[in-house]
Amino acid sequence: MENGFTRERAWTLLKEWTASASLVKHGLAVEACTRPYGVMEAERLGLTAGEAESLIELYAIAGLLHDFDYDRHPSLEEHPFVGVKFLREEGWPEAVLHAILAHADYSGTPRESHLDRALFASDELAGFLTACALVKPSKSIHEVEVAGVKKKMKDKAFARAVKREDITQGAALLGLTVEEHIANCLKAMQDRAVDLGLAG
Ligand SMILES: [Fe+2]
Ligand SMILES: [Fe+2]
Repeated sequence: MENGFTRERAWTLLKEWTASASLVKHGLAVEACTRPYGVMEAERLGLTAGEAESLIELYAIAGLLHDFDYDRHPSLEEHPFVGVKFLREEGWPEAVLHAILAHADYSGTPRESHLDRALFASDELAGFLTACALVKPSKSIHEVEVAGVKKKMKDKAFARAVKREDITQGAALLGLTVEEHIANCLKAMQDRAVDLGLAG
């Protein structure tokens, strides 16, 4: 991104603010999932290669940074507001700030843009897919399949903290079936399996 607010800078910021290795991986997993939605949106808009690259980077940055303040400021009063205030003062793109605010139901920020919707849709699903991989004896995301994920979504005792309705609502917000949304995110996370610690 020409203004210097790059994916690399977002990555540095995430690591700086986050002591928890699993939370860093969550940022990477959500980035993996938002990225293909940036690609799709760039295609839909008919962007040039350069414009597409910038748009996709915005999606990646929003994914990486959506919980970057959570380790330091986990309360509902502070997350993600403290982080967004910091990013705003640094001058990060407004589209990223809006998406980060909108990922939190209680923020009162509506999900308006495609990026807002893609980030919300990716957040819970990335966590759920990670949980699906970690229960495999190999702990490999390559062994996770869409049908198995759907089955686990019905199992109330499994990964209880993940709100199923956020996954189904997220898919609907993107105009996708749940299966399509799972397939997109699963493929994206499989492609980043080593970084996510889910290569088996
Ligand atoms: Fe969050
Ligand atoms: Fe998150």
